[in-house]
Amino acid sequence: MHVTHLSLADFRSYARVEVPLDPGVTAFVGANGQGKTNLVEAIGYLATLGSHRVSSDAPLVRMGAERAVVRAAVTQGERSQLVELELNPGRANRARINRSSQVRPRDVLGIVRTVLFAPEDLALVKGDPGERRKFLDELVTARSPRMAAVRSDYERVLKQRNTLLKSAAMARRHGGRSMDMSTIDVWDQHLAKAGAELLAQRLDLVATLQPLADKAYEQLAPGGGPLLLEYRTSAPGEGHTREELYGQLLAALGEARKQEIERGVTLVGPHRDDLLLKLGQLPAKGYASHGESWSYALALRLASYDLLRAEGNEPVLVLDDVFAELDVRRRERLAELVAHGEQVLVTAAVDDDVPGVLSGVRYGVAGGEVTRL
Ligand SMILES: Nc1ncnc2c1ncn2[C@@H]1O[C@H](COP(=O)(O)OP(=O)(O)O)[C@@H](O)[C@H]1O
Ligand SMILES: [Mg+2]
Repeated sequence: MHVTHLSLADFRSYARVEVPLDPGVTAFVGANGQGKTNLVEAIGYLATLGSHRVSSDAPLVRMGAERAVVRAAVTQGERSQLVELELNPGRANRARINRSSQVRPRDVLGIVRTVLFAPEDLALVKGDPGERRKFLDELVTARSPRMAAVRSDYERVLKQRNTLLKSAAMARRHGGRSMDMSTIDVWDQHLAKAGAELLAQRLDLVATLQPLADKAYEQLAPGGGPLLLEYRTSAPGEGHTREELYGQLLAALGEARKQEIERGVTLVGPHRDDLLLKLGQLPAKGYASHGESWSYALALRLASYDLLRAEGNEPVLVLDDVFAELDVRRRERLAELVAHGEQVLVTAAVDDDVPGVLSGVRYGVAGGEVTRL
């Protein structure tokens, strides 16, 4: 798919902006702080209902404005659709498809598909497990949009179970009556059900992504691998099906119960898991050099791109400010790998940093204006 038009109102630094887009490569060029990333962040938001830079919506709304609107016209094969999201920080966001009546924001997932690579992605390698879980879950949802509902079920159950554990922990500390544990049993089942579904999808994703990521790394940094992805679960076992994982989660919850009540928090489940990223024999985190970490993060994104492409509907590839970070050789390699994508959006502070093979449409971004060069 590709985006044929992007329209923003009160999003980030933009009061209003209209950007017509073509398939193929488009580069947004302009000095730092002029609003290049803001444009691609908006497209990423339509694809994931979140920003790659911040975890809440408030910074996405233009300072002084009450709400932001992000709208995109999207073409997939013969089909064109218009998607619109209204961001209302502190209140429910609203969504529309083809100007029709309201749908849930979650219903727009799958219409715009992106793989976005940005400097923030270094945190995939160097950051906390939460960064890698977010990476997996966004990709799981891109592969199968119905997983958005499973993820939100899981989050809801987890929150309620934690509340219950917290009050059990409090009661225990203050020598009160111990809680009725049958209530926790019920929450264990809910948690294990949604958790098993998410876990099954993550495991399948990691297995599918592994060879693609290894290949991408070899292309970016020949001889530097191999790259190995290892899913670290808090519910050990050999199972891969939903039923098996459900059993493993229940068993692990049972074992952790005492400790959970002491600490007042859920210690088992996909929210506690991690994806171990290895380069050769060593974990990348703590061992890989800056350049290797950067290539690793890029390889994960390129693998995501290959995966989504291979599974049908081709996503938009966004490369935000990445060429400046790469040496000339890796720049050229990356450019060759992606030059023939259906739609590739690139941002750069310096036009010369964008490799020649990525010739395409150029936009200048300055002073809140986006102008075709
Ligand atoms: N909510 C907001 N309201 C107004 N301006 C914003 C908002 N969020 C970010 N900005 C401004 O946007 C600019 C950064 O835009 P960005 O797209 O990240 O720049 P770059 O061109 O370097 O990628 C900064 O000047 C910042 O002050
Ligand atoms: Mg930027």
